[in-house]
Amino acid sequence: MAGRFSFRRMPAPEPPAPPGSVPGSGFAPPPDQMPGQTPEEAAPAADGIAWTVFQEGTPEAASMMAPLPPAPPPPVPASPVAPANAAMREKLLDAKVRLHRRLIEEINLAALEKLPEDEIRKHIQQLVSQYVLVERLALNTQELADFVTEILDEMTGLGPIEPLLKDASVNDILINGHECVYVERRGILEPTAVRFKDEAHLLRIINKIVSAVGRRVDESHPLCDARLLDGSRVNVAVRPVAVDGPLVSIRKFSKKPLGLDKLVEVGALRPQMAELLAAMVKARVTTIISGGTGSGKTTMLNALSAFISDKERLITIEDAAELQLQQPHVARMETRPPNVEGKGEIRQRDLVKNALRMRPERIILGECRGEEAFDMLQAMNTGHEGSMATIHANNPREAISRLEQMIGMAGLPMTITSIRGQIAAAVRIIVQLSRLSDGKRRVMSIAEITGMEGEILQMQEIFKYVRTATLEDGTVQGHFVATGVRPRILSDLAAKGIKIPPQYFDPSKPL
Ligand SMILES: Nc1ncnc2c1ncn2[C@@H]1O[C@H](COP(=O)(O)OP(=O)(O)O)[C@@H](O)[C@H]1O
Ligand SMILES: [Mg+2]
Repeated sequence: MAGRFSFRRMPAPEPPAPPGSVPGSGFAPPPDQMPGQTPEEAAPAADGIAWTVFQEGTPEAASMMAPLPPAPPPPVPASPVAPANAAMREKLLDAKVRLHRRLIEEINLAALEKLPEDEIRKHIQQLVSQYVLVERLALNTQELADFVTEILDEMTGLGPIEPLLKDASVNDILINGHECVYVERRGILEPTAVRFKDEAHLLRIINKIVSAVGRRVDESHPLCDARLLDGSRVNVAVRPVAVDGPLVSIRKFSKKPLGLDKLVEVGALRPQMAELLAAMVKARVTTIISGGTGSGKTTMLNALSAFISDKERLITIEDAAELQLQQPHVARMETRPPNVEGKGEIRQRDLVKNALRMRPERIILGECRGEEAFDMLQAMNTGHEGSMATIHANNPREAISRLEQMIGMAGLPMTITSIRGQIAAAVRIIVQLSRLSDGKRRVMSIAEITGMEGEILQMQEIFKYVRTATLEDGTVQGHFVATGVRPRILSDLAAKGIKIPPQYFDPSKPL
């Protein structure tokens, strides 16, 4: 099994959104708040951010008035299998596990693994056929072939979840105890028929993942992050932390990351918005990508990075290297968790500081979530324009508030106004992403930071997604619109020879 998996630390769970940022979170809207606006939007300066949401008199003002329909009900788990089938499956599962144990005992796995796959298969097929006869399992040819595949998966892979790992339409695999496995396909969570024989079986698979990297999970070490060799990220929690049995979360590595064209094709944004974003990246406009967990931040960062010039030296900093930049000159760095004695940790902040001594043109920070925000902003303000980072927030205003908080974590004596001033000077564009109730990831907003007025950071929205309805099945209806704001950055772009047609920003022209 050695060499199949490697251990890496995964990013820590993304921080929860600050309270009060969710519409309908229990705050009575002030009298001057428009339906559809968050309290923050209605009270622009309360958090020190002036937020131009749309221009009055545009058709969007009307569509903003429509209240959002309620979220759709959660998906119903698949009905349990028919009893006769269940008994048969039970027997098969049982046989598989016993056969697996016997095979492990009887064969020299290390020797077997060196053989090409079809040879291993032939070998296993023989053993399985004998076993099936002895055990009197009634299987047809197809079932026998499936059985062989499953045994092979057990031996050389991750057992019952191996088919899910191979299934390209699956993004995430979520195991909640041995009898419940969910997958995410096209943004929607769905239950699967996959299950493990018992908890011990699941624990064996878990320890197979983590043992390949010299770790074990048990009651005294119930949490572990790992990464499969193909880049997929794995998080494991077992008893007593996991109350109902082992929890495994796998974020599969996308072999072919979505490019900006593809994101347009799947409706995540419109071509005009993509053209503007690409132009900004080319022109080294500092951009922050904001969104919730799984909203497509890393994907967007990757897609945008394609527009960075080949001539630039890039340094990427991540907790677990996920980015797949296409440029020739990329130096990749990854944080390191502390060892068993709690020593030797290397944090994102250490890496950002170090990166500045490595003569980068731009720094790409996979996810900004703490004290490193300060050093990152410094870098953005001192000749590393065009640097990019992602941040966990639900809207552009919240992204700014989070940045303020994170800069505060650096522990320097700075006033909120000077922190805000630093942000306004460093960051120009915020791209806001969301995963909506239909599972689709969309660019909800492209906002421009235009500077400070007194103590207030000025921000204006250029494009946004307007939801008009949510159907019974959760499908979200809506459209992208230009707000009518002409980005100030256009003149900078023009100075660099990049022209964006002004009609892109005309709200009366459909995108
Ligand atoms: N616009 C999109 N359409 C469909 N799938 C997407 C889109 N954007 C991202 N994904 C997929 O969603 C999953 C989560 O995306 P990721 O970029 O890792 O999210 P985040 O970094 O915000 O957690 C990935 O499997 C990715 O391939
Ligand atoms: Mg990510």
